[in-house]
Amino acid sequence: YTAPITIPVVVNIIERSEGNVTQAQISSQIAILNQDFNNNNPRTSNIPGEFAGLVANANVTFALASVVSIVDSRTSWGTNDAMKFSSQGGIDATDSSNFLNIWVCEIGGGILGYAQFPGGSPATDGVVIGTNYFGETVAGGIYGKGRTATHEVGHWLNLRHIWGDGRCRQDDFVADTPSSDAPNYNCPAYPTVNCQSADMTMNYMDYVQDDCMYMFSNGQNDRMRALFVPGGAREGL
Ligand code: ARG
Ligand code: ZN
Ligand code: CA
Repeated sequence: YTAPITIPVVVNIIERSEGNVTQAQISSQIAILNQDFNNNNPRTSNIPGEFAGLVANANVTFALASVVSIVDSRTSWGTNDAMKFSSQGGIDATDSSNFLNIWVCEIGGGILGYAQFPGGSPATDGVVIGTNYFGETVAGGIYGKGRTATHEVGHWLNLRHIWGDGRCRQDDFVADTPSSDAPNYNCPAYPTVNCQSADMTMNYMDYVQDDCMYMFSNGQNDRMRALFVPGGAREGL
């Protein structure tokens, strides 16, 4: 399946005081998602020759459909999905078979964001991004360049971490991402060798800092796109 895909996005903002999450954060986040899923990251030229032939243009466009916002003073919502239910003080998902829901709130615990894989409950489907890591922010530091959403939307589109969350032989179910046994952080030099091959540390599905991740691979693109065929988990989009 190779046709361009457009995903309408609902941003659900739970801010501690009105205006806490800015319009600039929203627009920069949508722009960054569009860069990254169209192979327009400004750093793609840093991709080493070994991986240059593997870079994917996912050809996915994110279109802001609506913004829902409420004020709540909580400082740590955690990861139990409370932010996704008005009955728990959060915001209910909007029609998750036709929209990507992004919740923005104070997750707490140093957590940048989290996502639900395809096939889960429609009520909790989508991604959650911590307030400081949503869009371009100063407060986010090395995670203030909007790549948490890129990584989480990768999970939402069925991608695993490139080290497969396990030892060398644990797979991420993608053939062209080299085997690794652990996440990489900060901004690793190339080559960073683990499991007898250079890690694709610049992949969005590693744990490096925002400005050191700048590619999805062709194999990851195939895995994402498989969701959009008739009968696929994201067909409605
Ligand atoms: N730890 C989170 C996860 O596994 C997000 C990591 C995002 N990394 C980043 N450079 N923004 O889903
Ligand atoms: Zn992750
Ligand atoms: Ca792999």
